[in-house]
Amino acid sequence: METIIIRAASGKRELEPAINAILRGGLVAFPTETVYGLGADAFNSTAVRRIYEVKGRPSDNPSIVHIASLDQLSDVAIDVPPHLYDVLRKVWPGPFTVILRKSPTVPLETTGGRETVAVRMPAHPVALDLIRGSRPIAAPSANLSGRPSPTRIDHVIHDLMGKVDVIIDGGDTYFGVESTIIDFTGRRPILLRPGPFTLEELRKFFPDIEVPEFARGIREADAALAPGMKYRHYAPLKPVTLVECNDVDYMVKLASKLIDEFRSKGMRIAVICSSETCGSYSGVELINIGSRNDLYGVARQLFDSLRRVDELGVDAAVAEGFPEIGIGLAIMNRLRKASGFNIVRC
Ligand code: TXA
Ligand code: MG
Repeated sequence: METIIIRAASGKRELEPAINAILRGGLVAFPTETVYGLGADAFNSTAVRRIYEVKGRPSDNPSIVHIASLDQLSDVAIDVPPHLYDVLRKVWPGPFTVILRKSPTVPLETTGGRETVAVRMPAHPVALDLIRGSRPIAAPSANLSGRPSPTRIDHVIHDLMGKVDVIIDGGDTYFGVESTIIDFTGRRPILLRPGPFTLEELRKFFPDIEVPEFARGIREADAALAPGMKYRHYAPLKPVTLVECNDVDYMVKLASKLIDEFRSKGMRIAVICSSETCGSYSGVELINIGSRNDLYGVARQLFDSLRRVDELGVDAAVAEGFPEIGIGLAIMNRLRKASGFNIVRC
């Protein structure tokens, strides 16, 4: 099919083809402040089914419903805990996704067959204008299933050109990792996926929040709680080994030893390393993910770095770990999953 590309900077009127596509049951890839989303009318089960076909996404992996005002929350969710409204007024729009009981009008196609629904209000003017002009939008990340999420327009074009009605080019996304997801359907809030809204900030609002091991990415997700997270995620096609150490010098030594072992088998290797440590490696392709002193910068480069592994045509990659502080928790969750839990620790 023909895909129209719209430049987001051009203003509201230029969004009309995208708005019309959503209203007609079509698919639109659009920028958010986290990653690009692949959206369809959240209430149109046929349109939502097409998202899954295009992405190759398993139908039991639920999508996030994106809204543009707090009023729309009651169109998609029921039994919202009253105290949650106070928090949502403070954190929305933003990278904060809540799991609630779904309203009967939200089709099961949107929620992966579940009676609960994920909802967020994105903090990107284009996403908000698109929703305001059309409907609440169901959107997973705009990548082919299992691949790193798209944070740059060329990632979206690579994965979806010719497969969707409209792609809106909003340039590079701001955070580079997907939203923080919290489940509010139980007695205590549970962190399902760490994101740009950090655990430190979350604890101020919800001191009793539960953080299961799978939220850190140190084991497979509990399929009952975090259905979509049990699938292979974020991964390059080639194997990635993650090296985790608190001491950076020791980590570089361990990574170098690993690289020597791979190279002695004749393998070509890429290293995802920081601007402080990349200079320590030789005989490998270097993928500089940014400074250890700027974890927000590392998050922004993360998915592009993982995609680079495949572009470089190497046989395998070694990735350095980062401290689980602030957005570092989200970075490590994604890296551990991208490595398929293939992790070497000091
Ligand atoms: O930042 C983001 O959240 C981006 C942008 C586009 O908004 N979206 C995104 O969507 O990351 P996606 O589909 O790649 O991740 C959504 C995840 C699913 O994998 C699933 O695990 C979880 O949200 N989820 C959705 N509905 C759920 C539900 N009812 N119960 C538990 N988890 C749910
Ligand atoms: Mg995704």
